[in-house]
This record gives sequence, C-alpha cells and structure tokens, in this order.
Amino acid sequence: MDEIKIHGDTFIPYITFEELEHGIKMMANTIHQEYKGEIPIFVGVLNGVVMFMSDFLKQYKGDCEISFLQMKSYEGKESTGKVRQLMDIPMDITNRHVVIMEDIVDTGNTLEALYNAISKKPVKSLKVATLLYKPDAYKKDLNIDYIAMSIPDKFVVGYGLDYDGLGRNLPDIYQIKGDSDL
Ligand code: XMP
Ligand code: MG
Repeated sequence: MDEIKIHGDTFIPYITFEELEHGIKMMANTIHQEYKGEIPIFVGVLNGVVMFMSDFLKQYKGDCEISFLQMKSYEGKESTGKVRQLMDIPMDITNRHVVIMEDIVDTGNTLEALYNAISKKPVKSLKVATLLYKPDAYKKDLNIDYIAMSIPDKFVVGYGLDYDGLGRNLPDIYQIKGDSDL
C-alpha cells in the first residue's frame, strides 16, 4: 500500500483489512458466546459503521437482528462535543438485548449521547462494541464492552471512516502523516 492524499493531506497505510478481520472475528466469537440462546439486536451507527457491521455480521454465527441509527456531531469553528441524532432506531427494542456498533470511539461524546438515548428505552440489556478505540482521547466513564483494536490518538480514515466525506470506501485504514490530528 502506498501513501494517499485526501483533501490535500497525506495519509500512510496503517491497519490492513486482514488485521481488522482478525480482531472482528474474535469479537464476533466473544459476543456469540455471551448471547447464546438469545437473539441480540446489533444497532449500527451510520455512516461510519457500514464496513465493520457487514464484516462483523458475516462472522457472527448465531441468530441476531440488525438495525441502524444515525448520529452527527455538530460542526462549527470549535468542537463543542455536541451530538445530534438524525435518525432513530426504526424498530421496537422493548425487552431486547441491544449492542451498539460503532466504527470508532474517540472522545466518547457520540457514544455517551447514544447510550443515554437508547437506555431511556425499556431494553433488557445494552452493551457497546467498537471497531477502533482511542484510549488516550477517551474522556468518559462509560464502559466499552467490546473493542476490536485500540489505536493512538491520531486521525484515521478508510474502512467506513471518512475525512470530510471522503475515504470511506478504502478497504484498509490509513493514518494522517505527521503530528496533525485534523
Ligand atoms: P467521538 O468519540 O469524539 O467521535 O464523539 C465522534 C465521531 O467522530 C468520528 N471520528 C473519526 N472519524 N477518523 C475519522 O474518520 C478518526 O480518527 C475519528 N475519530 C472520531 C467518528 O464518526 C466518531 O463517531
Ligand atoms: Mg461514527
């Protein structure tokens, strides 16, 4: 893999699909063991989760249902950490085991907003799974139940993750070159 340019910034190859696939397979097996005899609902957070969700589901060997919701961080001159929900889960999750599926947990603002919104509903249980986790950036106390891979606090793109709309279709993950975190 070579360096690539997105919106004029340079990104270097960082995590291959094969490495991601290994972590995803282990996560799917762990979750399957924990939900034996149950039918969990995996709720993906659009848009970033598309690739992860698809590959995770192919590795999950038990019965399950899926759904999606959409969140967006407010964009402004300053990162206020405010998050708004664009789309709610379009199914009844009453008395169900729900697992939130995220592409990346960075500061945790998005996850906290999501968790608070879903836990208002009468679910049977609520857990969180994420493909990537930045422990040095995380500012919340909420426990993250399943993590495929922990990474340093540097901006990444690819495999569903975007830089201002671009890069989601890259099959592997790239890291910003240099010290900039964008
Ligand atoms: P937090 O946890 O800070 O993350 O609420 C908010 C959302 O921002 C996106 N995000 C990233 N997107 N590369 C990306 O392409 C990154 O390194 C990155 N860090 C955060 C992601 O959508 C997350 O849900
Ligand atoms: Mg996201």
